[in-house]
Amino acid sequence: MAEITLFPQPHKLERKTGAFRINRHTRIFAADSAIGEMLADYLRPATGFELPVHPLDDDIPADAQNAILLASGVVDAAEGYRLEVEPGRAVVTASQRAGFLHGIQTIRQLLPQEILLAAAVEGVDWTLPGVVISDRPAFGWRGLHLDVCRHMFPVAFIKKFIDSMAFYKFNIFHWHLTEDQGWRIEIKKYPRLTEVGAYRAETALPQDPSQYDGVPHGGFYTRDEARDVVAYAAERGITVVPEIELPGHSVAALASYPELGCLGEGYQVRRNWGIEDDIYCAGKDEVFAFLKDVLSEVLEVFPSKYIHIGGDEAPKVRWEACPACQARISAEGLADEHELQSWFIRQIEAWLNDRGRNLVGWDEILEGGLAPRATVMSWRGSDGGIAAANAGHDVIMTPNNYCYLDYYQSEDRESEPPAINATLPLKQVWQYEVVPKQIAADKRQHILGGQGNIWTEYIPRSEQVEYMMFPRAIAIADVLWHHPDERDYAALVARLRRHLPALDIMGVNYRPLDD
Ligand code: ACM
Ligand code: ZN
Repeated sequence: MAEITLFPQPHKLERKTGAFRINRHTRIFAADSAIGEMLADYLRPATGFELPVHPLDDDIPADAQNAILLASGVVDAAEGYRLEVEPGRAVVTASQRAGFLHGIQTIRQLLPQEILLAAAVEGVDWTLPGVVISDRPAFGWRGLHLDVCRHMFPVAFIKKFIDSMAFYKFNIFHWHLTEDQGWRIEIKKYPRLTEVGAYRAETALPQDPSQYDGVPHGGFYTRDEARDVVAYAAERGITVVPEIELPGHSVAALASYPELGCLGEGYQVRRNWGIEDDIYCAGKDEVFAFLKDVLSEVLEVFPSKYIHIGGDEAPKVRWEACPACQARISAEGLADEHELQSWFIRQIEAWLNDRGRNLVGWDEILEGGLAPRATVMSWRGSDGGIAAANAGHDVIMTPNNYCYLDYYQSEDRESEPPAINATLPLKQVWQYEVVPKQIAADKRQHILGGQGNIWTEYIPRSEQVEYMMFPRAIAIADVLWHHPDERDYAALVARLRRHLPALDIMGVNYRPLDD
């Protein structure tokens, strides 16, 4: 029997003799016709088959031969599914939409890779091998993050990114939408955020950050475009979690509305990288009115239960010198500027909670005291996540030393595109342990999962996003879905060697494996 290669690897897979060959007379029976149509859509371009989709009621037609059945049934997890392929038919059983979607992706990966072609191809046997797969994810949060602020990417690429996420059974797209270097989401009440804040005059050169390219850069997503992305992702089982950064990484907003900063003037959308001293003033009430207005519009576009508010890398020098911030510290009885940041985050958390949403922030939100119901995204290694989980908070583990896909993929930097000054080879990603041992056994359920992060200071083009993403994101998908105890790197590489031609077929760029 030919080797089966699936990414992520299923929880349980059993080979059966026999196989099922799809042909132009194959019928799809679906409990949910939209899901059936989606499968037909996936199979159409390469095969040229117009497979009809029939409703499937409670009973699977006993006589259904030459059929793919998508049947409601009991499986052992919310996103779980079962796939049985035998001569004459394939049956996906799931209890929720997500499970069916995962089953469909597995069917795509089980077929000859030519199924991924965008145009019809002759002479391929569209055969599914005999299997019984019983599958479910190890973690409920399986994310990828993309920074569209350091460089802007068009909606068409965002959709392609989401397509690849769905292929690997990711379910969270963390969309980093605001930054020092650009504000990327239209806010009706504050048009200057995108008139002014979405553009920078030029960009520091990767080789020499004291030099600039002289080329204006920017752009933004309209509300309709963002809604379109949200709907496109939802159809594929992916939730878009927007990130609106506060109190730091906010210079593009300050350049648009200078009164929101402690100094009140002199801001420009940043042209270079690193951490900026200028952040939102914590003393002025109009800052909170502004942020709540902005978030109100964000909530209208993004139905996600989780809203990411950043919280990282907020220097306190302006707050230390600002009379309004110091007055806030006195009035609220706070000990210092760290407690002021914590107070700031708590205002936003209470407001989000009142609207039925949960706040997520980078692990700096632990400093000065964690907001009561916040979910922590641990990025400076795992320590923040360990502390937060042990304190009873939910955590998403995205430690930079395993999950930062903007880092170099090889120590041979001369042969790589310019990247940030750190290295994270595939081999290291593959060692990613989502739940560190220091988390008490009764606190493990607080680890919701993890994600890979793609910061784009040095990534101006979409092909380069894909180059940095793959194959490392595939290893992350495997860890988050399957969470193998054994991490045999040679076996991973062998599987990837068989699998990566699928990306070539889909026109997705990636870093080739080392010889
Ligand atoms: C981060 O990488 N500053 C969250
Ligand atoms: Zn201030």
